[in-house]
Amino acid sequence: MSKITTETIRAMKSRGEKIAALTAYDFPMARLLDDAGIPLLLVGDSLGMVVLGYPDTTHVTIEEMEHHVRAVARAKPKALLVADLPYRTYENVDMAVKTAKRLTLAGAEAVKAEGGRVILDQVKAIIASGIPVCGHLGMLPQHVLEEGGYHVKGKQEHEQQALMADADALANAGAFAIVLELVSAVVAAEISSRVPIPTIGIGAGKDCDGQILVTPDLLGMLPWYNLKHVKPKLNAAEQMRTVVQQWKSSVESRDPVPVPASR
Ligand code: KIV
Repeated sequence: MSKITTETIRAMKSRGEKIAALTAYDFPMARLLDDAGIPLLLVGDSLGMVVLGYPDTTHVTIEEMEHHVRAVARAKPKALLVADLPYRTYENVDMAVKTAKRLTLAGAEAVKAEGGRVILDQVKAIIASGIPVCGHLGMLPQHVLEEGGYHVKGKQEHEQQALMADADALANAGAFAIVLELVSAVVAAEISSRVPIPTIGIGAGKDCDGQILVTPDLLGMLPWYNLKHVKPKLNAAEQMRTVVQQWKSSVESRDPVPVPASR
C-alpha cells in the first residue's frame, strides 16, 4: 500500500469507502495500527487523559504533543499522521501557523483544530502555509470547562444551524476532513451529505463518512472511564491485570514463566 495523503482520505469519500481512523500516541501502537491498515492516525490531545493522567485536554502542552508526534512518526506509518493543535496554541493567525509548523517538524502531516467560523482565519492561514487542516465540530473537548461536561450537540435548532454553517465554512476554507464529536446522528448525517469533504464521527451516528475512536477506549485499556459512545472490543485492562498477577505469583513461587532472553 502506498503512502496515504489527505487526497487519499478525500478520495475515499468520493468512492463511498468508509474511513476507519484511530488515535495513536507512541511508536508501538502506531506500528500495530498501521500494520492493521488504519488509514488515518491521530495524535489526539486525548493524550492528556489517556496517557498523561490529566483530567481533560486543556492541560496538554505543545511540547508534550511534539514528543508524542515524534514517537508516532518514528513508526513511519503509511497512514496519514494528523496531530491536534493543543489548547490555546492557535488563538490568532501567527500562533496557529507557528504551532502547526512545530507539529509538522515533529512529523505530523496535517493538524486538527477545534472550532468552525470562530477559528476560520487561523484555519485559512495554516492551509495557506501549506499544512492541511482537519476541522473538529460538535462537542469540543478543549471547551469542556466552559461547557460543564461532554454533551451531545445538534439537538436544538440553533445548534443545528451553527453546525451546518461551521461545516460549510471549514469545507470552503479548504479543510480536508471534519471530525464530528457527539453530534446528533441526524445532524451528522445531514452535514455528511452536504459537505464535499469526509466527516469522521465519534459518537455522531453511523452515517458519517468515517469513524474515529480513542484506541485505548476500543481496546478496553481504561476501565475507569465509562463511555456511552464506545463498547470496548477487548478487555485489555483485565487481561493485563491477570497476566501480571500470574507472572508475579510465578516469581514469588520461584517458578518464573520463561521469557525470551533478548529481542
Ligand atoms: O483528541 C482526540 O483523541 C480527538 C478524537 C476524540 C477525535 O480529538
